[in-house]
Amino acid sequence: MVRINAAGGALAEVSSGLLAVGLYKGEELPAWLGEAANVLSEGDFSGKQGETTLIYGPDGIASPRLLLVGLGEQSSFTLDSLRRAAATAAKRARSLKLDDAAFVLPVSEGSAARIAAAEAAAEGAALGLYRFDRHKTSAERPKLTTFTLIHEDEQDISEAAETGAQLAAAAILARDLANEPSNEATPEYLAEKAQKIAERYGMQVHVLDRAGIEAEDMAGLATVGRSSSNEPRFIVLEHRKGGDGVPPVVLVGKAVTFDSGGISIKPSGGMEDMKFDMSGGAAVLGTMQAVGALDLAVNVVALIPATENLPGGDAFKPGDVLKLHSGKTVEIVTTDAEGRLILADALSYAKRYEPAAVIDCATLTGACHVALGDHASGLMGNDEALIAEVQTAGEASGERAWHLPLFKEYTEQIKGNTADLRNSGGRYGGALTAGAFLKEFVDYPWAHLDIAGVAYYGKQMNAYTPKGASGAPARLLVEFLRGRVREQSGKES
Ligand code: BES
Ligand code: MN
Ligand code: ZN
Repeated sequence: MVRINAAGGALAEVSSGLLAVGLYKGEELPAWLGEAANVLSEGDFSGKQGETTLIYGPDGIASPRLLLVGLGEQSSFTLDSLRRAAATAAKRARSLKLDDAAFVLPVSEGSAARIAAAEAAAEGAALGLYRFDRHKTSAERPKLTTFTLIHEDEQDISEAAETGAQLAAAAILARDLANEPSNEATPEYLAEKAQKIAERYGMQVHVLDRAGIEAEDMAGLATVGRSSSNEPRFIVLEHRKGGDGVPPVVLVGKAVTFDSGGISIKPSGGMEDMKFDMSGGAAVLGTMQAVGALDLAVNVVALIPATENLPGGDAFKPGDVLKLHSGKTVEIVTTDAEGRLILADALSYAKRYEPAAVIDCATLTGACHVALGDHASGLMGNDEALIAEVQTAGEASGERAWHLPLFKEYTEQIKGNTADLRNSGGRYGGALTAGAFLKEFVDYPWAHLDIAGVAYYGKQMNAYTPKGASGAPARLLVEFLRGRVREQSGKES
């Protein structure tokens, strides 16, 4: 991965393969650009978001290439504008086959704003350079080794660059796991990744295999996984740096490593995308890696039910009734509504931690993708303050989440005929009836993120979000936990 660092000093003296400068639409040219500024007076560069102009051998500037990158309107500038600009710069440097590039951070008032900007730029550069190419056997492709953030005042920026790189690394791990096809990324494989994270950062890890899952009465997970030769796992990863006896935040991630639909089999067109049905679990693992790397002073427990959903001679069938971990019974309307079954087990398992809050994330319903399109997770829950906190973390990280209702009428839709519940509420409001189903298994502050529309994309979405897995909502979750740490240290001082 690209190394991201920081440097200060006079901008014109920075010597890098490429020096990138972000400019707002209609912005006056900074004096230090000197004669290079002429290209601008000709009107060839307007500062529109994503626009670039490359200038060779600019007078008075030590770097041989100057790249102007549009930041868009200053009035609509957000940290996401910076993520995109840094990604654009890093990718351009790589396509020029350069080893290193530098990126001038825009002037920002105050240390907090400077830190946030440096984090975002570091994140954007690392995320933009991401490629999933480990299965390509062709020749080496160019690599950018160093990306340097430049600010007159180097203080703060170094640590922020490191933090930003770790935030990106969380999403990159999530992307790697989710992009990995299901013949590699099995439940067992995810468990091994969790064990590696635990080892590296001194976390506790427990992995339940099929027998362990059955012994815990997690019938949802055991049943969905029953007909696969890649057997299910229940992964528990615990980071305890928040003090003894302090209730943890529990993160739950759906990890269906391949969802064929089971006996209620999906149409074959596009079914290959169902390798991404473990994106929730992947994001939770990415989050835990960042929690370890940043050594966050919180107690966090990750719960990842991992399984395939396949048809077979031993597969569960429509009409079957299961008694889930909580003791509630469910009538199976469709074996393709498997996510809520394995999540229900994990959510009731979470009660033993007496959690401060639980957030689950899951590629749960196509209906959520229909409702919100490609640009936000569906956010549901039972606690207004927690929902607001998750929404704020989404805003800050650029991984937006939008609050959807869980009216009691949706719960009516999933009442069972012969059992307590049914696992489908019918055609309308599919994201909400799925949320209402999960709600039956929680008795603590809880938020649910339906990430079906944002976990992976069929095309590049922006400069730092390529085709394939996005890594969402790993950065949202890390931001949420950092918020909890900030709040805690605020209370103590
Ligand atoms: N994994 C799917 C949801 C999904 C669909 C995610 C498309 C991403 C893209 C989930 O297990 C599923 O099949 N849900 C069904 C629920 C329905 C049968 C009640 C759905 O959304 O159609
Ligand atoms: Mn399904
Ligand atoms: Zn699924």
